[in-house]
Amino acid sequence: MTNRKGIILAGGTGSRLWPITQGVSKQLMPVYDKPMIYYPLSVLMLAGIREIAMITTSEDQAQFQRLLGDGSQWGITLEWIVQPKPEGLAQAYVLAESFLDGCASAMVLGDNIFYGHGLPTQMAQADVRAGGTVFGYRVSDPERYGVVDFAPDGTVKEIVEKPAKAPSNYAVTGLYFLDETAPARAAAVQPSARGELEIADLLESYRHDGALNVELMGRGYAWLDTGTHGSLLDAGNFVRTLQDRQGTQVGCPEEIAFEQGWLTVEGLEARAAIYAKTGYGAYLLGLIPR
Ligand code: G1P
Repeated sequence: MTNRKGIILAGGTGSRLWPITQGVSKQLMPVYDKPMIYYPLSVLMLAGIREIAMITTSEDQAQFQRLLGDGSQWGITLEWIVQPKPEGLAQAYVLAESFLDGCASAMVLGDNIFYGHGLPTQMAQADVRAGGTVFGYRVSDPERYGVVDFAPDGTVKEIVEKPAKAPSNYAVTGLYFLDETAPARAAAVQPSARGELEIADLLESYRHDGALNVELMGRGYAWLDTGTHGSLLDAGNFVRTLQDRQGTQVGCPEEIAFEQGWLTVEGLEARAAIYAKTGYGAYLLGLIPR
């Protein structure tokens, strides 16, 4: 494990989900029984990352803080950063430069949900790889995402953001393992026609230098979309189906912290007491070996 730090980008207006996100941030919406932000947070924790910057709008910050606090309840530290305007995903690296303090990072978008048996291993491999690593995932509607353009020999020709005609079915997921050069590279990105610092341009900077790795997430993974009302409901149903069938939680920060050794039995019991009236609390108690 390197000393990689985490970034969760949870800004934006969520306008594609209005009116439900007019009063509450999109990333605080429920995905079945947990707030959406729990799922990407769990991903970073599964990667072994304990120092995380939470980037939100200034209006939403207090609500996120009420939910997540300083992270100490899970043995992690959360630092709070405001993104004044939604000026692109790459801007996160500019905003987080002093937090990163020369460290490599893993950034996850606050509305991205990942589920898959191999995820911790795949992230551990990305952690030790030089340059930048992103993950390609096959989707039926690639035009909605950043898309990987592969050369015939399988190398990456380009990452194109929301192309009218997609060069492949492989979308770039919202999980980015970038080295310590990301803030400087992001600062050199020019705003696009829509006035944003595009993540695709930042990734192009890595690719140009021969420093971009694209790893594919296979068909055993679920990378779920929460960008439309229907897909948000689908994501909730997916989580419910898995949890009910297996009797295990998806995206449970207490469980991950406990398994990582960041939370003691007493710490876990204290968390369970907070949720005593819910199945979540009972689940947490059930994690303690008897
Ligand atoms: C963003 C990125 C896109 C990426 C997607 C993953 O798009 O710009 O490259 O594929 O996240 O969720 P957005 O969701 O902001 O439209």
